[in-house]
Amino acid sequence: MTDALTRPPVVTRITDLIGRTPLFELARADNGARLLLKLEMFNPTGSAKIRMARQMIDDAEQRGDLRDGGHIIESTSGNTGLGLAVVAAERGYRFTAVVDNHAAADKLRGMKAMGTELVHVDTDGDELHTAAREELAEDMARGKDNTFFTEQHNNPGNAVGYYDVGREIAQALDNQVDVLIGAVGTGGGLCGTARELKKTVPGLTVIGVEPKGSIAFGPPAHDYYQSGTGTPEGATIGLLVDYDLIDEGTKAGDIEAFATARAVARHCGLLIGGSAGGVVHEALARLPHLAPDSVMVAFINDGGEKYMDTVFNDDWMSARALLDPAVEAEVEETLTKLRRD
Ligand SMILES: Cc1ncc(COP(=O)(O)O)c(C=O)c1O
Repeated sequence: MTDALTRPPVVTRITDLIGRTPLFELARADNGARLLLKLEMFNPTGSAKIRMARQMIDDAEQRGDLRDGGHIIESTSGNTGLGLAVVAAERGYRFTAVVDNHAAADKLRGMKAMGTELVHVDTDGDELHTAAREELAEDMARGKDNTFFTEQHNNPGNAVGYYDVGREIAQALDNQVDVLIGAVGTGGGLCGTARELKKTVPGLTVIGVEPKGSIAFGPPAHDYYQSGTGTPEGATIGLLVDYDLIDEGTKAGDIEAFATARAVARHCGLLIGGSAGGVVHEALARLPHLAPDSVMVAFINDGGEKYMDTVFNDDWMSARALLDPAVEAEVEETLTKLRRD
């Protein structure tokens, strides 16, 4: 085992490469308030979710729910599945991912490459089908010996897996952080990080961001294209969305989220995913209104590489009326104005 905050020069397992992700300063307001991005794409699989995937499997092994030669089953939009695929490959488990057509093709390809069995829910179109996926995953695991449905929406390990993110931020900034902002899907990432960080930064303000159309912060419900995040209509808001920890819940539209991801890429050469685009959009709107010299940390769930066929593809964007050069130009202008160096 490696310590959570330090890494030996040579590691022997891919999961030893999880964590210790960098902070990047994206913007600074005139009053010195800074926006720092916690770049979780530097984890194996290019996403934060491998942190909770490992935690859920460690917990299951400890409880005896999963033993040698066991079978893991999960409903996933992709990043959790990629994390579980790594853990399964490393520890010799069989892994079945229940997916829908909303998942980014590269996430599915990645899981397959690591030996995952993919089961598609029987639905049309590229909308999200979270509820159908979860039902099928639960059915597949029911009554089977040494078979574990990780059930990320209701698994406490999902939040615990992010405690290290809180510790890493606290250590890197010597607890000098005022605001934490991040996407809310299962709620594990933001709430797990916030719970740990609040231990040493009790005055921390926590802002949750979900796609417009998602229901964790209220109606109206409608379809959205931001991948891996939010709670679509029909799905249950997971136990890990801890409203007591979240000071403000806000929503980002697909157009703004994707325009921001595209503008950030051009502005500084950083590829972030679509949900992270929504988070950065909301963070940039709030930055100039923070107290002087404040520090806002944005939890960046994944990188943009998996979205070359979607967010970064003009044809895909145009076909769904998501391409809006004026919004992109506006974000670029904001970034140029805020960036000091
Ligand atoms: C790209 C992306 N953004 C945001 C989220 C939401 O994170 P959480 O489920 O921890 O709330 C996920 C979760 O799968 C994701 O894959």
